Amino acid sequence: MNIILLGPPGVGKGTEANLIAVRLSIDHISTGDMLRQEVRENTDLGKDARAFMNRGKLVPDEVIMAMVQKRLVPNFSHGFILDGVPRTLNQAEVLGEILTELNAHLDFVIELEAGEDVLIERLSGRRVCKKCHALYHTINMKPIRDGACDRCGGELYQRDDDKVATIKRRLTIYQQETHGLKEFYKKKGIFLTINAEGNAEETFRKIHDCLALKK
Ligand code: AP5
Repeated sequence: MNIILLGPPGVGKGTEANLIAVRLSIDHISTGDMLRQEVRENTDLGKDARAFMNRGKLVPDEVIMAMVQKRLVPNFSHGFILDGVPRTLNQAEVLGEILTELNAHLDFVIELEAGEDVLIERLSGRRVCKKCHALYHTINMKPIRDGACDRCGGELYQRDDDKVATIKRRLTIYQQETHGLKEFYKKKGIFLTINAEGNAEETFRKIHDCLALKK
């Protein structure tokens, strides 16, 4: 199955994409995770991307789509869930061209939605494992041991772009950039919207039920 997960920062795309990828045995492709990896490794791409990310701005489309193409092409046959991409109409069109080349198609585009107060609360409390990138939250998803990852024991940190001023900029940019994108997928008849204000497992059940009904 080939899925796109859309939604504003903090709505739970990474959390839900992880659950879906494991349970459907498909590849989880997160452009945010790929970019953060490049930043950690201090590559040229990472150095360029960091300035955009820390200001809450989008990284240029051509950088993103070259990265996605490199990752998608060798792995697409097992199915995939795209998390955080496409984010602009241009990215959606380039993705369409890549999939046509591969003779592959999209099954669903799922948009998760939640109120702005929920998004800000989730982002400002998010903590991420430095080693395995598992996601936690200071209130909603606490690790067993304070500051340490349950899975691998790695140190938990707060993302640079999870400061309140940057969060607000990211939310504004999301609203500006994604309107055309939603219309694009609605016209294709594969677009679903799911309320993601419940806990992670409740949201996962809603997504799962929608996928099962539409199959
Ligand atoms: P990216 O990493 O994609 O960030 P984002 O879209 O802003 O989304 P987030 O990762 O912040 O949130 P999420 O929806 O995944 O929520 P999560 O599951 O972590 O991108 C970062 C930056 O990279 C962008 O700003 C841009 O600069 C650049 N970039 C990336 N892709 C790009 C592209 N295609 N084009 C251009 N630039 C691009 O959950 C958040 C918190 O809430 C966690 O603490 C979690 O534990 C908790 N939580 C999750 N679900 C629930 C729940 N149901 N109940 C309670 N708590 C929950």
